[in-house]
Amino acid sequence: MSTNITWHQASVSKEERRTQKGNHSFVLWFTGLSASGKSTLANAVARRLFQQNIDNYVLDGDNIRHGLNKDLGFSEEDRTENIRRIGEVSKLFVDNGTIVLTAFISPFRTDRSQVRDILGENEFIEVFVDCPIDECEKRDPKGLYKKARDGQIKQFTGIDSPYEAPEHPELTIHTHLYTIEQCAEQVIQHLKEKSFI
Ligand code: ADX
Repeated sequence: MSTNITWHQASVSKEERRTQKGNHSFVLWFTGLSASGKSTLANAVARRLFQQNIDNYVLDGDNIRHGLNKDLGFSEEDRTENIRRIGEVSKLFVDNGTIVLTAFISPFRTDRSQVRDILGENEFIEVFVDCPIDECEKRDPKGLYKKARDGQIKQFTGIDSPYEAPEHPELTIHTHLYTIEQCAEQVIQHLKEKSFI
């Protein structure tokens, strides 16, 4: 617990950074099962934004767990802490005027809503990457579903650990019905409709 700390006002505000960059900054929070397509979709959207000279950055579960969150496992407490930290990191990016795309299973509703709560209005866009578990299991790009079914991985989301689907996501994307480029286009269209980009 930190004590005796004071908040320093930044010399450059979030609004000034946004104005200089010419876009709104926010988090596109992709949530869904492992192998549902979160990272692929986040990266496809990131590439499109980059091509339009829009500052953005992808935070990806597997990658972040190699560094910042390498001390965390997959218990409920560790997943909650994983998402809490990513929420705080995302807030810093948003403060920098950068669009953040996060790709974490983030299975618990309360964890996601806590991230929404620390961000401002129109700064948290929840994107439910909705793909049936049978399809995720068929894809199984890392062979993890197989390991989970064989009992070699415990607490695997969708097998022996829960996934709580969003109740009111800003956007739902069906990666088993459309190509990744079509899915990315649906996200970009939403951002344009909202005048976020
Ligand atoms: S989260 O639940 O805390 O949001 P996160 O997105 O960071 O998870 O990490 C999920 C990735 O870790 C999966 O895509 C998979 O590659 C790997 N993984 C390893 N063990 C598990 C597990 N028990 N449950 C889910 N994913 C796991």
